[in-house]
Amino acid sequence: MRGMNVLVTGGCGFIGANFVQQQRRLYPQDRLIVLDALTYCGNLRNLEPLSGDRGLRFVKGDICDGDLVGKLLLEEEIDAICHFAAESHVDRSILGPLPFVQTNVVGTTVLLDAARNAGIGRFVHVSTDEVYGTLSPSDPPFTENTPLAPRSPYAASKAASDHLALAYAHTYGMPVIVTRCSNNYGPYQFPEKLIPLMILSAMADKPLPVYGDGQQVRDWIYVADHCAGIDAALRRGQPGEVYNFGGRAECRNLQMVHSILALLHKPQSLIRFVADRPGHDRRYAIDCQKAEQQLGWQARWTLADGLVETVRWYRENPAWCQSVQSGEYRTFFERNYADRLVTAKEVA
Ligand code: NAD
Ligand code: TYD
Repeated sequence: MRGMNVLVTGGCGFIGANFVQQQRRLYPQDRLIVLDALTYCGNLRNLEPLSGDRGLRFVKGDICDGDLVGKLLLEEEIDAICHFAAESHVDRSILGPLPFVQTNVVGTTVLLDAARNAGIGRFVHVSTDEVYGTLSPSDPPFTENTPLAPRSPYAASKAASDHLALAYAHTYGMPVIVTRCSNNYGPYQFPEKLIPLMILSAMADKPLPVYGDGQQVRDWIYVADHCAGIDAALRRGQPGEVYNFGGRAECRNLQMVHSILALLHKPQSLIRFVADRPGHDRRYAIDCQKAEQQLGWQARWTLADGLVETVRWYRENPAWCQSVQSGEYRTFFERNYADRLVTAKEVA
């Protein structure tokens, strides 16, 4: 009996690549088809450990391309979709919201529509706790029933895509599952996000920019725990349901930066307080009891252990770090694996 054929959108990004590597380890009988447009943060080096793996196919293409997506679903006999592809950085969304609306809202709808036409058996829409808005210090953590109140263009575009995903489940009876996770960290994260930016800056003795007073709180989850949650949702989630994932690890940004500097034996004098992000959300915290009880999932990594592992990974992978910092990664795949590159044009 053949395993599942799973379309993974955004599989060359941070979480998608960790997920693809996990799934290839756990389910060698499954076949994964990665669809990724390789935007500035999509990096084929993130799948390098799987180079030559015959259970994995990479297609360079845009989720907004309905013809391509429709053909892929049929041609590859896709059973399930795990949808990671997105514009994901809040600061970029403040500078220019339109690409966020295009990929996160339009792209997700194109994908949902193609999945509906093809009768796909499972659609996991990977979303974020940022759709719930912000918390004050005394508020209880977000549950799946917390009303959506997004405040950045990024969060608003993800909330719109969540509504559409759930509307497809409700209106068309599609087997869509929505996951909402707190801030991830770990290997392969693009160094525009807090933790990898601080690690690489500190390693290079460059200043570490802390926004505002640095007292904002995020609930950090090690990426492997999130990937395990998405797999649990894929295999055991109920259609039409939402599942929160979080690390039960709230931490203030300034405290996080202090911890990173301590792990790297670098001085606190590298910290620079800079102008605050406009509309900066003060606190996120996730209640993930539903996923624990109904999916049998649990976060395994403590923040302390995950941070040690993450710092170790960035220290021990200078080639990845240099290629990302120099921009070399943008042509890496074409130069090394041109013979195995499948483009949207060929699929069409
Ligand atoms: P990322 O920015 O590292 O990766 C996104 C990937 O999507 C890249 O490989 C990019 O090339 C691809 N992509 C972008 N636009 C595309 C398009 N139009 N067509 C095809 N591919 C496209 O993001 P990430 O941090 O890995 O996040 C993955 C998902 O998880 C996102 O949906 C994000 O909203 C969600 N999420 C992220 C976090 C986090 O802390 N990073 C937390 C919760 C949820
Ligand atoms: P980020 O990693 O961008 O994730 P998000 O905005 O989705 O939570 O930022 C995490 C926190 O760190 C957020 O409160 C903003 C703050 N931050 C800084 O203080 N300095 C920085 O250079 C960055 C990138 C983020």
